[in-house]
Amino acid sequence: MPRNKKRENNFAEVNPLHGKTIILGVTGGIAAYKACDIASMLRRAGADVHAVLTPNAREFVTQLSLTTITRNPSHCEQFQAQADWRPEHIELAKKADLILVAPATADIIAKMAAGMCDDLLTTMILASSAKIMLAPAMNPKMLDHPATQNNLATLQNHYRYDLIAADYGELACGDFGTGKMASVETIVAAAAACLLEHRTLAGRRVIVTAGGTREPIDPVRFIGNRSSGKMGIAMADAAYARGAEVTLVSTVEVDRAYSVLLVETALEMQETVEAEFDGCDALVMTAAVADFRPLGFSNQKIKKSVKEDFSLELTKNPDILDLLGRVKTDEQFIIGFAAESEELLSNASQKLKRKNLDVIVGNDITVPDIGFGSDDNAVIILSADGSRENLPRMPKRAIAEHLCDIIAARFSTAEKEPASAD
Ligand code: CTP
Repeated sequence: MPRNKKRENNFAEVNPLHGKTIILGVTGGIAAYKACDIASMLRRAGADVHAVLTPNAREFVTQLSLTTITRNPSHCEQFQAQADWRPEHIELAKKADLILVAPATADIIAKMAAGMCDDLLTTMILASSAKIMLAPAMNPKMLDHPATQNNLATLQNHYRYDLIAADYGELACGDFGTGKMASVETIVAAAAACLLEHRTLAGRRVIVTAGGTREPIDPVRFIGNRSSGKMGIAMADAAYARGAEVTLVSTVEVDRAYSVLLVETALEMQETVEAEFDGCDALVMTAAVADFRPLGFSNQKIKKSVKEDFSLELTKNPDILDLLGRVKTDEQFIIGFAAESEELLSNASQKLKRKNLDVIVGNDITVPDIGFGSDDNAVIILSADGSRENLPRMPKRAIAEHLCDIIAARFSTAEKEPASAD
């Protein structure tokens, strides 16, 4: 049985900025002085704003100004003495709904695209699962440079960051062209729209499974696997950020605002997922469920002195996905995962059909450094409608965002289709 249960309501706010925690990243360009107006407007709209400046930003705007305007301490130093054992800014990064970098210089854009984290702001960006937006501001030639354009394309297409396009006009350097930071009103409106639009799964109930099951042999030993649960947790975080009511059925303990049901074995996972499945809109089965469990459980620790040879009799576990694929309604959407060491495409597409899934996400476990335990993966996404997408190596959160887009698109299409006349 699940060992803990936590639920909270998910009411959409009428004003999408109200009550939201926003990290305002300020970087070192002349437009940094406008960050004060952005902070003020966001705060007056009801957001809890925390400014994080890069060291260069302090050449243009003071921490004191931003602290006063946001009514929260603003941050800059990455390494500083602190009273609490938990770094405050990492806690902040974890609870943020949105990180808005305005202005975003060519330098921070390059660092973000490369995944660097040599200051507090870039560190928080990497440590956060919040939606990230940036408002570029720089000389037109710098913006136009292929390096900057490639970096922006990486942020937009691979990491799913939102860009607030720079305006055309006269810049502080005297040049004319595109590179002026968008207006304060445009940036605040874009932040509000992003928080609203991002709720593409509002009103949907999504179950996600995470981690590897453990099948006990005796009080000390179990059969386990290498799954870290990171993909499932990223998926649950992404769905929750989009407004879904999320239930995470996990073998890995995490502290989240949504419901987390802790399980250990495949049978416990089956029981818990089945109990939640009725009436859910989507099930995303990222968990690595053991296919077999020991036939019997030894109440006492098995002693090595007993025998020279020892064999363990195993019995098959139920295939949770297969069972639920059989009973799912037309309105329910199921995503399965396939971790394969060979014949990725054919194995994944066979599982898609055999288990009656809407989508299967396949990955090749022989590729080094990604997949199990890593923060990144590279996957193929096969859909029951025959479509196929290859996602190159990217953070698991970005893969999760892709999957959320797929689920949301499916529900929006279903809503648009008129009910049949008879
Ligand atoms: N799965 C499940 N129950 C099981 C085994 C797997 O629900 N007992 C789900 C996994 O969560 C995953 C999908 O089925 O979403 C595919 O799992 P995988 O281990 O790749 O495939 P299997 O069906 O177990 O086939 P095989 O191990 O032979 O590749």
